Amino acid sequence: MTELDAQHTPQAAAAWTERPTPGRFTGRTVVVTGAGSGIGRATASRVVREGGHVVAVDVAAERLDDLVAELADVDGGGRVTPVGADITDDASITSILDAAGGRVDALANIAGIMDDMSALHEMTDAVWSRVFAVNVDGTMKLMRAVLPGMLERGAGSIVNTASEAALRGSAAGAAYTASKHAVVGLTKSGAFMYGPDGVRVNAVAPGPTITGIEVNVTTRFGPTRLGSARGTMTAPVSAAALAASITWLLSDDAFNVNGVVLASDGGWSAA
Ligand SMILES: NC(=O)c1ccc[n+]([C@@H]2O[C@H](COP(=O)([O-])OP(=O)(O)OC[C@H]3O[C@@H](n4cnc5c(N)ncnc54)[C@H](O)[C@@H]3O)[C@@H](O)[C@H]2O)c1
Repeated sequence: MTELDAQHTPQAAAAWTERPTPGRFTGRTVVVTGAGSGIGRATASRVVREGGHVVAVDVAAERLDDLVAELADVDGGGRVTPVGADITDDASITSILDAAGGRVDALANIAGIMDDMSALHEMTDAVWSRVFAVNVDGTMKLMRAVLPGMLERGAGSIVNTASEAALRGSAAGAAYTASKHAVVGLTKSGAFMYGPDGVRVNAVAPGPTITGIEVNVTTRFGPTRLGSARGTMTAPVSAAALAASITWLLSDDAFNVNGVVLASDGGWSAA
């Protein structure tokens, strides 16, 4: 067992529990996409329990009912406004801003979909278009929508969700890998352009995380090649472990951090 393994055993991943910071988001409105499941849900929950107003966005609107019920009686002073919205749709983007009451202090762009693990020569146009529509267009559209208000106030924090697939070519299919590299491009461009105006733009690159994300494998070449590269993968963690990284980047605790792609992966990217 290596030193890295010792720090990130499945047992350690299972035993970890979050420690919320009371009041860290008090007075802040935070848009969280993908809030109906997995990493988005865990992030929305933590921001509310740390005092924030979360505009919780998901295309599967019914998933937000559970989140609202779960957070109805929590301590911490926060609240949640659910918005059933598709981030690829311009009218939905407007409805998200309306739900925020015109002021967005922070944006967590977490909604995303996987591809089918296809290599480039076996990938369909449909997979490419859909993965780019959600992971890239959706991320871009919400960034573009919240930036004018942040620039006016001279303050704001945006966290995009990349992936291990933004750091290497062996973690997913061609479409997802390219889309998450594009998310890094949006992040670095935003960080450079807006840092001097008080707006920070960072990304998190999750490793294996236990969520509801679906992979429908339909091809053979890509999945087989990818299977041979799984040896260095670290133990899967809870969505709350990713929420801990994302909320740190969103918060003022990370005021000196701009333009990073934070691998939250137990060290997989170091392998
Ligand atoms: N789970 C992992 O191991 C892992 C690893 C690396 C990166 N990620 C990334 O983390 C993010 C969250 O994934 P997750 O694992 O929590 O998945 P998940 O499927 O559990 O949750 C994603 C949520 O996003 C919503 N969504 C999908 N398309 C949408 C759209 N067009 N508009 C609004 N909402 C939409 C879904 O309805 C779902 O509730 C994604 O960007 C994913 O690529 C996940």
